[in-house]
Amino acid sequence: MDKQRIGIFGAGYIASVHTDILGQDDRVELVGVADMVEANAARLAASIGNARTGTTLDDLFRLDVDTVYITTPNTTHVDPVVACLNEGRNVFCEKPMATDLDGGDHIREAAQASSGVYNLGMNRRYAWTHAKLKSLIDAGDLAPYSAQLKLNRGELLRPAWTADPTKTGGFLYETTIHQIDLLQYLFGPIATLRCAARSAISNAEFDDFSMLFTFESGTVATLSSSAHSGWSFPFERIEIYGRYATAMTEELERVRYALDLDQTVHTEDYTHIAFAEKGGYAKEDRLFIDALVDGGRPPVGIDDAYALNLLLAAIYESARENKEIDFAERVRTAIG
Ligand SMILES: NC(=O)c1ccc[n+]([C@@H]2O[C@H](COP(=O)([O-])OP(=O)(O)OC[C@H]3O[C@@H](n4cnc5c(N)ncnc54)[C@H](O)[C@@H]3O)[C@@H](O)[C@H]2O)c1
Repeated sequence: MDKQRIGIFGAGYIASVHTDILGQDDRVELVGVADMVEANAARLAASIGNARTGTTLDDLFRLDVDTVYITTPNTTHVDPVVACLNEGRNVFCEKPMATDLDGGDHIREAAQASSGVYNLGMNRRYAWTHAKLKSLIDAGDLAPYSAQLKLNRGELLRPAWTADPTKTGGFLYETTIHQIDLLQYLFGPIATLRCAARSAISNAEFDDFSMLFTFESGTVATLSSSAHSGWSFPFERIEIYGRYATAMTEELERVRYALDLDQTVHTEDYTHIAFAEKGGYAKEDRLFIDALVDGGRPPVGIDDAYALNLLLAAIYESARENKEIDFAERVRTAIG
């Protein structure tokens, strides 16, 4: 079997998470690393072995890559993704797909016309805590009547660019996107949404969000997200309430599933599991390579990515215009 020839575009933190995983996959050959800062490309390539280095996407294309991982900052994803798809290469792009509706439209058009496969990196779906929630719901052990989610950040100072919306696209695209993606993954299609937001400490348009969602299934859920909560835990939590039952995550470390009184509380603790595994990064990479090798569907393909991009834009619109949004109608209009 020919190995998948993979190039990396953007040689920072998350690129190294992926190259560590891909480097252990026998189906993959990491052939090149490109970064506008050549020293970053050289540093990552040195940790891989034989990979060549460059500064542009064309440098990777010249190495005859089948697939490119786009791991540059948020607002720089659309152009290289479209360029890869136009060249018929497969793309794994880190979150977010885009930071506005136009970007999502460009990528979807390019993906529809391309022989290449598009995948969005949404590792939280495969985090062990969330995989456990999903399996409880899918098995019918937990009917999610209502839910409460939160995902915070310590501050927007370290690193400083996290306060710069020209780099992040906004806090929801940077951080909260992880749990926003889980909403429809866990509870099915959203019917309506409403978001109240304010800017408390940063130059960004908003850095505090309170959201309310209704789902076509009847589930109702709230999601709150603050960009300046200090680095105090708990930081990230999902609580799902069923019929005399609660399932609850604690960071990416633990899940508790509790039924009524007089019954055992089931706890799974992933403290001793390696970060790349329990965080879902290893599984998303494995599923993506499976899809390339077997010709199947990628884990988070173009339709899911596009719908998530619509959802993020609708949440910002609700906050700006102080109104409820019929999201089901939005999806019907945009996707059919
Ligand atoms: N899924 C996750 O848990 C997760 C975690 C961290 C980051 N991310 C995402 O990964 C992406 C990268 O984040 P990071 O933390 O690795 O950032 P980083 O700052 O560590 O690395 C980004 C790299 O891209 C390079 N770069 C910047 N602009 C470029 C351009 N136009 N062309 C070529 N190279 C360019 C920089 O020189 C740097 O080496 C972001 O989109 C971020 O949202 C995802």
